[in-house]
Parts: sequence; structure tokens; C-alpha cells
Amino acid sequence: MTERFPTGIFGLDQLVDGGLRENTALVVVGSSGTGKSTFAMQFLMRGIEEGEQGLYITLEEPPEQIIREGEIMGFPMKRHHDKELFFIHLKGQNFKKMVDDQLPQLVKARADFDIRTRVVVDPMTPLIWASPDKLEQRELVSKLFETVKKLGAVLATVEEHAQPGVTVGEDVLLPLYLADGAVHLEYYPIGGAFNRTLKVLKMRGTHHGEGVYPYMFIRGVGIVVRASSAEMVVEEGKSYDEVFDEALKTAEFIKAPEHVVQKITAMKDHWDYDYSPEEALQIIFDTYGLQ
Ligand SMILES: Nc1ncnc2c1ncn2[C@@H]1O[C@H](COP(=O)(O)OP(=O)(O)OP(=O)(O)O)[C@@H](O)[C@H]1O
Ligand SMILES: [Mg+2]
Repeated sequence: MTERFPTGIFGLDQLVDGGLRENTALVVVGSSGTGKSTFAMQFLMRGIEEGEQGLYITLEEPPEQIIREGEIMGFPMKRHHDKELFFIHLKGQNFKKMVDDQLPQLVKARADFDIRTRVVVDPMTPLIWASPDKLEQRELVSKLFETVKKLGAVLATVEEHAQPGVTVGEDVLLPLYLADGAVHLEYYPIGGAFNRTLKVLKMRGTHHGEGVYPYMFIRGVGIVVRASSAEMVVEEGKSYDEVFDEALKTAEFIKAPEHVVQKITAMKDHWDYDYSPEEALQIIFDTYGLQ
């Protein structure tokens, strides 16, 4: 059995045999606003919960802005900044030089360091566009993956410029081929809580879910994927606050870690959906192996 690492995306691990394998790269493809950056932050923060470190390679927004946005979504990034969470900001730099020299040096410098590091490249698109030459693009992306995969599990986001329901555009195929796994996010602007969907396009060495799975955002928690097709039993007549209070009581009773309690508390404070949170709570309890 290969060891698997939780992605941090609630509900996703059960679709991919329990999580990601070490030293593999996952690409998350989606158009603007589908949740790629949320996905990326949640992936890093879960690693930090597990005692790992996180490296956020940003080719666009400055770290301060990412931290600010992360904090708004409820990820305690400020607290971990420069302790377990590190940033490399490469705006307007020579990407080739970064991929050929800087990153390999960084990885080499950390070679003896035995704390696992998750790496995020968000968004990877500018790197692909750095060269008009297909072969050079392929070399850049492939070398980047090979280098940072030495640190741990890697997640790279790729912007998509296609309409929902259309198969992924040609311009994003390259990183899909080169990655070990790929997930497609889509947004259907039709209202309702589950108006975004996730599909696992590939996952090497893994028996993965084949469906299209709705997901939602919960402030303080992040993305929750509705991976089970089974209907959840939702108890009628209870107020949502009662549901949360019961979950908090259960969490206390089974001595759930503090970060799990914080997530439930944040959910209670921010739940603005007009349906019961029982299913999402169940997915979170399951993810942390709590019964
Ligand atoms: N708790 C939440 N409730 C509702 N919507 C949310 C919540 N958190 C984030 N969102 C929405 O999700 C969207 C996606 O955010 P995110 O930045 O992760 O997307 P993205 O795919 O990285 O977008 P971009 O392509 O612009 O970088 C934002 O537009 C935001 O409004
Ligand atoms: Mg983004």
C-alpha cells in the first residue's frame, strides 16, 4: 500500500483512494472564480495541521494579498507566515531562470531537512505563457514539476478560458499531461449552494471517482465536495444552530483537535445556506477520522 496524504479538500480524499501520494503533482483546472486559490490554500493549511510546511509559489498576486484573502476565507495564514508557511513571489521574473536555477537550489538547500513540504503554484498559467514555443513550454512545466515534487506533494492551478460544460480547452492540456493527477472545477451561475462541480480527470495509480461532484464554499472551512451519491438522512425540524451545537458537543466528547472545533464554530457563525449543515459536518468528521 502506498501512503496517502489528505488533500485538505473535504470529500475529495474518498474520491481518490484516500488522498495524494507523496512526490506527485496535482493540477487544478478551472475558470475564474471556480475556487482554485481556495483549493490551493486549503491544501497547504491541511499540511500545516499535520505538522508539515507549506510553500506558496505565486506568479501574480503578492503574498500580502494572498494572506489577506486567505484570512477572509477563514484560513489562519497570518499566524503561520514565515514559520510553517512560506512564499516565493515571482512577478515579472525570468521564469526560465527560476525553473533552471533558483528552484533547484532551494530544493537542494532543503534536501537534509526532514519536514515534509507541500508546494502550491498558483496560478501556473503565466509560466506556460512565458514562451510561445510548445516544446519550451513543455520543458518548463515538466522541469518545474520534477523539481518541486522532491519537496512533497505539489498542487498547481491552471486558468481555463472555456464556457462551463465544454471539454477542457487546448491551452490547458499541457500541464494536464505532465501532472500525476488533474481535477476540473466548473461554475454554473445558476444560484443555489452546490452550483460548482468537481471532476477528477486523472489520478495516476489510483482508482478514482468518475462522477461530477458538486461542491460548496464554507467560510472558515473551505471547499466541501459532496462525494457520496447516497442521500444523507437529514433530521427534520431541527434549527441549524441546534445541529451545530450538537456537532460541537460531539466534537468535545470525542476530544476532536482544536482546529476541527474551530472549523465547526466558524461554520456556525457563517452558515448562510438555506439547508441543513448535517451533510457537510458529516464529511468533515469523516475526513478527520472522527466518529
Ligand atoms: N465562503 C464563501 N462563500 C461563498 N463564496 C465564496 C466563499 N469563499 C470564496 N467564495 C467565492 O469563491 C470564488 C472563488 O475564489 P478563488 O479565489 O478561490 O477562485 P479562483 O479560481 O482562484 O479565481 P481566479 O481565477 O480569479 O484566481 C470567489 O469569487 C469568492 O466569492
Ligand atoms: Mg486564484
